[in-house]
Amino acid sequence: MMLRRPRRLRANKAIRNLVRETKLNVEDFIYPLFIVEGEGIKREISSLPDVYHFSVDRLEDEIKELRELGLEHVILFGIPHDHEKDECGSEGFNENGVIQRAVRRIKEVDPEMNVITDVCMCEYTSHGHCGILNEQGYVKNDVTLDYLTKIAISHAKAGADMVAPSDMMDGRIKALRDGLDEAGFENIGIMSYSVKYASTFYGPFREAANSAPAFGDRKTYQMDPANSNEALIEAELDVLEGADILMVKPALSYLDVIRRVKDHFDLPLAAYNVSGEYAMLKSAVKNGILAEGAIYESVMSIKRAGADIIITYFAKDLAKMLKEMK
Ligand code: PBG
Repeated sequence: MMLRRPRRLRANKAIRNLVRETKLNVEDFIYPLFIVEGEGIKREISSLPDVYHFSVDRLEDEIKELRELGLEHVILFGIPHDHEKDECGSEGFNENGVIQRAVRRIKEVDPEMNVITDVCMCEYTSHGHCGILNEQGYVKNDVTLDYLTKIAISHAKAGADMVAPSDMMDGRIKALRDGLDEAGFENIGIMSYSVKYASTFYGPFREAANSAPAFGDRKTYQMDPANSNEALIEAELDVLEGADILMVKPALSYLDVIRRVKDHFDLPLAAYNVSGEYAMLKSAVKNGILAEGAIYESVMSIKRAGADIIITYFAKDLAKMLKEMK
């Protein structure tokens, strides 16, 4: 006699639904939006099929579509004109900058939409690095913090609900927390890109955001993909400095790191299913090499690994898939 027959719990769809350990929900997803200067623009991004550049005046329909799909969290990335870029990314804290206008517009269209803004300088600096450079081209840490704080405060003033610093400077969470509090924004949360690797998987994003560094790479500030103890050090600092949500980025090549961070810390954990991960899978599905189920399975693996929140360009695809599965 065989006492244990695990197949009993796989016998039909209802049973499988009943014992499913991990469930993807539309509430888990944050959808990235790329906002460009100009008017009347909704243009597919060549490196990211089915993802678009929007000018502020074209956001309304997109926000309504997200709401209809049940998606209520967006993270915004701004792409200024080239001529607006300078050494210290000052367009990033212009109160009429592309992000500041986009936040105000989204809140007009849908006040309940949870608007998170990416806080970084690489889209705004002429050299494409995430901070202020010294003569040798090294990103200076502490002076960069002052600029990041200005950017975060200007996003909060525009009406952002939460800021997400992605620069990887040391001490930035405390700097942002102090700055936001002093400016009266103690209720604006910080989702920290706590564990952000120097990854080749950001390639399509950098094309989309026109933010590739003009020289060198980001290895003096983003983490070495070989390290996972260091992930715990970074996450712990963010906890101590006052982050509200931690993040691991990228996601799919770092599922072990997601699990370690989840096991060590009790804050909500986000994972960023980045542009390269999206582009690979999306092209395989579009070209008929893989079935759409591969998207569901991959994003499921991120949640199973321990992520509570998933930032993903697949959010709309998944919202539709989840609806159909009901
Ligand atoms: C800005 C930033 C990047 C991403 C999110 N914020 C690019 C980078 O660090 O070079 C990447 C997101 C993605 O690849 O989807 N610093």
